Amino acid sequence: MTSKREHWGSRLGFIMAAAGSAVGLGNIWKFPYVTGENGGAAFIILYLALVFTIGISVLGAEMVIGRKSQHDAVSSFKKLGTPGWSVIGYMGILAAFVILSFYAVIAGWTIAYIVKTVSGSFSGLDGDGFTNAFVGFIADPVQPLIYAAIFMALTAVIVMGGIKQGIERAGKILMPLLFIIMIALVVRSVTLPGAEAGISFYLEPDFSKITGSTVMAALGQAFFSLSLGMGVMITYGSYLSKEEKLGKSSFYVGFLDTAVAIIAGLAILPAVFAMGMDPSAGPALTFITLPAVFDSMPGGVIFGGLFFFLLTIAALTSSISLMEPVVSFAGERGISRGKAVIGTAVIAFILGVPSSLSQGVMSDVTFFGKGFLDLMDFFTANLLLPLGGMLVSLYVGWVMGAKAKEEMGGDNLLINIWIIILRFVAPAAIALILLNGLGILSL
Ligand code: PHE
Repeated sequence: MTSKREHWGSRLGFIMAAAGSAVGLGNIWKFPYVTGENGGAAFIILYLALVFTIGISVLGAEMVIGRKSQHDAVSSFKKLGTPGWSVIGYMGILAAFVILSFYAVIAGWTIAYIVKTVSGSFSGLDGDGFTNAFVGFIADPVQPLIYAAIFMALTAVIVMGGIKQGIERAGKILMPLLFIIMIALVVRSVTLPGAEAGISFYLEPDFSKITGSTVMAALGQAFFSLSLGMGVMITYGSYLSKEEKLGKSSFYVGFLDTAVAIIAGLAILPAVFAMGMDPSAGPALTFITLPAVFDSMPGGVIFGGLFFFLLTIAALTSSISLMEPVVSFAGERGISRGKAVIGTAVIAFILGVPSSLSQGVMSDVTFFGKGFLDLMDFFTANLLLPLGGMLVSLYVGWVMGAKAKEEMGGDNLLINIWIIILRFVAPAAIALILLNGLGILSL
């Protein structure tokens, strides 16, 4: 089986695919509003510190597991002689289904918003109008599901193409496109009259804004954004050949992901300030505040359309990475790529139905005080991913130990620091996020 395994065509292809996984709704939809809610620049500095210590270390650890074993996220651990740790892979596959199910719902909204922006349905609305347009749309029992199905089908078509022809090619075309659109949006945003207030909010740190919960928000965001803790990077790493330098690759992926998040904020927050809107509007920033911003700025239809297109591309390169670990797992158990893709897409879509309906007809149905979509988000981002990331750190740090160093490239200072982070720093930090997420500890 190992001999038949498909590999990435080039290192750049792998980095683009992995960065494509990392860059998603988390960067463009979530990062700017989390930054807006947590005090701007001070939050960014904290986020950078966490990504470049714990984040990149865990990213490298996942790549090491996959590349060493050349197997899917479950079989990897059997292949490495530690079958008990396969639980990491099973948790990852469960997380993949769950995240894919609600990710497609939100990505469906972004496709709908391309259509709505370009067709002018937002033009001339007042403040409440934008809120009602959004709330009314997501509460509709049918329309959002049609868009989610379209998004899921796009994802399936790409994954069907396999590693080189599907995922790698998508990354190499879509990622540069994403950069270009983003730069255009930044230029538009920072040249609006009154953008300076937003730029200084975004770039001048106020450290008094940093509290325990800010640290937790930053760490949770880093994990979700780097696609950690669910076997994506194990799976992508397993399609790497032995020559690749994993340390550099994980650095590049972490760097690109962070750059996109920061640039996304620079495209959004100055425009929000220039138009006199509230930067801490939370999740509504993208779907309510921004359409209002676009409507009131010159060229807004074009820039708004481009923005939602950008968001859709980013979501697509992430959703393919959510589907691939499941397809890879099924493939090693004799199920063809075609069947696995269709099966995964259909099941994840069905699981997404209650998430979509929870925004409307099912909004009264709550579990532990949360609607279905929020519950799925909480269960994965606050529970499964941190738990997966902690197990990966412990596994590579303690169980693989010397083998991991060798796989990473030897015994130098950086690699030793990496092992120390995996053994002690990452597990302790993640334990804190988990306890905080569960409300057991509040910082
Ligand atoms: N990293 C993606 C984002 O920022 C989300 C994601 C999480 C993708 C986990 C794959 C695995 O949107």
